[in-house]
Amino acid sequence: LEINTNKSGAEIAPTMYGIFFEDINYGADGGLYGELVKNRSFEFPQPLMGWNTIGGVEVRNDGPFSRCPHYVRLSYSGKRDMSTGIENRGFLGMSLLGGEEYRFTVWARVPGDAQAQLNVGLRDLDSQEESFTVCDTNINVCGSEWRKYAVVLTPPHTIKKASLTVFLKGNTPVDVEHVSLFPVNTWRGHENGLRKDLAQLVADLRPGVMRFPGGCIVEGATLNTRYNWKNSIGPVENRPLNETRWNYGKERTHFDYYQSYGLGFFEFFQFCEEIGAEPLPVLSCGMACQFNNDITTKGSWIAQGDSLNEFIQDAIDLIEFCNGDPEKNEWAKIRAEMGHPEPFNLKYLAIGNEQWGEWYAPMLKAFMKPIRKLYPQIKIIGSSGPWPDGKEYDYLWPEMRKAGVDFVDEHFYKDEDFFLSGASRYDNFPRKGPKVYAGEYACHGKGKKWNRFYSAICEAAFMTGLERNADVVKMATYAPLFAHINGWQWRPDMIWFDNLRSVRTSSYYVQQLFSVNRGTHVLPISVSGNTDKIYASAVADKDDKNAVIVKVVNTGEKDIPVSINLKGMNCESSMLTTVLSASESQPLGNVNYGSDKVHSILDCDNSLDNPERIIPHTAESKVMCPH
Ligand code: AHR
Repeated sequence: LEINTNKSGAEIAPTMYGIFFEDINYGADGGLYGELVKNRSFEFPQPLMGWNTIGGVEVRNDGPFSRCPHYVRLSYSGKRDMSTGIENRGFLGMSLLGGEEYRFTVWARVPGDAQAQLNVGLRDLDSQEESFTVCDTNINVCGSEWRKYAVVLTPPHTIKKASLTVFLKGNTPVDVEHVSLFPVNTWRGHENGLRKDLAQLVADLRPGVMRFPGGCIVEGATLNTRYNWKNSIGPVENRPLNETRWNYGKERTHFDYYQSYGLGFFEFFQFCEEIGAEPLPVLSCGMACQFNNDITTKGSWIAQGDSLNEFIQDAIDLIEFCNGDPEKNEWAKIRAEMGHPEPFNLKYLAIGNEQWGEWYAPMLKAFMKPIRKLYPQIKIIGSSGPWPDGKEYDYLWPEMRKAGVDFVDEHFYKDEDFFLSGASRYDNFPRKGPKVYAGEYACHGKGKKWNRFYSAICEAAFMTGLERNADVVKMATYAPLFAHINGWQWRPDMIWFDNLRSVRTSSYYVQQLFSVNRGTHVLPISVSGNTDKIYASAVADKDDKNAVIVKVVNTGEKDIPVSINLKGMNCESSMLTTVLSASESQPLGNVNYGSDKVHSILDCDNSLDNPERIIPHTAESKVMCPH
C-alpha cells in the first residue's frame, strides 16, 4: 500500500460514522430505556397485560392523566386470608443487580380521603426461601388527591428472575397509577433515564450522528401508529401508548410490543448532546409502512389532500421544539419546561423512511417548500427507496436529485457480494447534487442471516469505500443497533443484550474502529500486488498531530503480508496497530440465540456467554526506516 501523506484530499465529515436507533428487537422499552415495569400505566389494549393480580383489583379509566386514563383500584379482597395486590414481571422478565438501588414510584390516592398503606416489594422468583420477597417497604398514602410517592429498594443479591409487587395493607382502598421501577444508577443519573451499560456501549462508539427513532416505526403499520414525536414529550405519565410496527406483520414474534414513549424525543436529543452526536430525527412523510399495507392504490395508508398538512406541521414544530425560542414558541416552551432552555441545535431532518412508488417524491416536496422557506439552514434528507417489486434499492435517486434534497438515505441489507463490490460503489458517483447518507446497512450473509465475523469483515471492506469517497459520503449508520436475545424480530444487529448483560458483536468493533479512527482528511492510497482480497483506505488526522491512520481489511481466509509505504512521513514516528481478529481456541457455540449451526469462526460471533471470541488487539510497533 502506498500512501502519500503530503497530499490530503477531501475533508471527512464529523458525522461520517454514526448510529441508527430504532425500537425494534425491544431496543427501547425493555432495552435502552431504563424502566423495568411493563405496562406501567395500564394502557395496553388489555389494561392488565403484564400484571398478575390477586384479590380486589379493579381497572378504572378516569385517572389524573388524560392521555393515559387507566389506573387500578386496590380494595379489600372480601376474604380474610386473601390479600389484594399486583405483580409485574418486566418486559422479557425482570432482573436486578444485588446492592444496586432501584427507585420505585407510583401515583396514588385514597378515594375515601383517609389514610392507607401500600407494601412494595422485590421478589426473587427462583428463591428457595420461605418467602420470595427479598426487600420491601411500606408507603403511607394520604388523601383523595393524586400524589406521586417514591421509595428506593436495594435487593441484597443479584436476581435473574425478579418481580415487583404492590400489596394493599389493611382494608382501606387505594388507587394506583403509573407504577414505575428504575435503576437509580442510570446513564448520567437521569430519573427517566437509560440503562447504563447499553448507553455506555453506544457512547463508546463515539458516533458523529445519531438517527432516531427508526426505521419502519417512523412510518407505523398505520398512519395512526406512526411514531408521533409530539406524544413522546412532556411528563412521562401523560405520554400515550403506541403500538409499534414491530408488533405487526408476518415477522411478529411477540404480542405485547408497545411503545410507552418514555424514551421520547427530548431524551433522544439529550442523549445525542451527551455523547457528542448530531441528532438526525426521521419523521413520517405521511405514508404508513409500505411493507405492511396494500399499496397498489391510494388508501388509508397515505395522507391525502389537506390531511398531509398535519404531518408537515409536525416537521415545522419539531424544528421549533429543537431550535426555537421558549418565549415565542409553544413547542420550544415545552423543551425549556423539560429542563433544556438552550436549543438542541438541530441541523438535519429526514422526511420519510423507506418509501417507494410514485407518491413519495411529491409528498416530500410538499414538506420541503415550507421548511426551505422558514429554515433554510436545515439539511433535508430524502430516501432512495428500498428494493421491492424487483426495483433496485436506489431507484429514487433521480427523483431526489430533482427534488433538490441535501442528502439521500440509502439502505443496504445485502449479501457479501454486494458489500465487497460496494466498496467501489462511490468511486465514480456523481460529485454534484445530494450527498450520500448510508442510513441503514448490514451484511446479511447468503443463507446466513445472523451476526458473523465474515459479514463484519465485508462491512469493513465496504466502509473503506465510504471513507475513500468522503467528499460524497457524509454519513453512515449500521442498522439495527440493539437486540434483546429473547425478543428479536430482526438480525444481524450490532449489540445483543439480556436483562443484565450485553455483548459487542464483531460488527460493533468494525464500526468502532472506523469511528474512533475517523480522521479529518482522506489520503490518496494505491494498492499493488496480490490485491484481490485486500481493501484499504487512509486518512490524516489533523486534530491529532497529523497522525496517519490506515485501515486494511483482509477478506480472504489466509494471512497476507502487507507493506505500507507512507510517503512523506517522518521515519522516527511511532505506530500503533489494532487488529480485529478471532481467537480460534474459543468454542463456536450457536449464534444470536437462534438454532443455526456454526462450523467455522468466520460464521460465528461473540455471544453473551462468550463475549471475547472476536476482539481488537492493539500493540505498539516501530516504523521501519527505508535504507
Ligand atoms: O432496520 C430494520 C428495518 O429495516 C427498518 O425498520 C427499516 O427501515 C428497514 O426495512
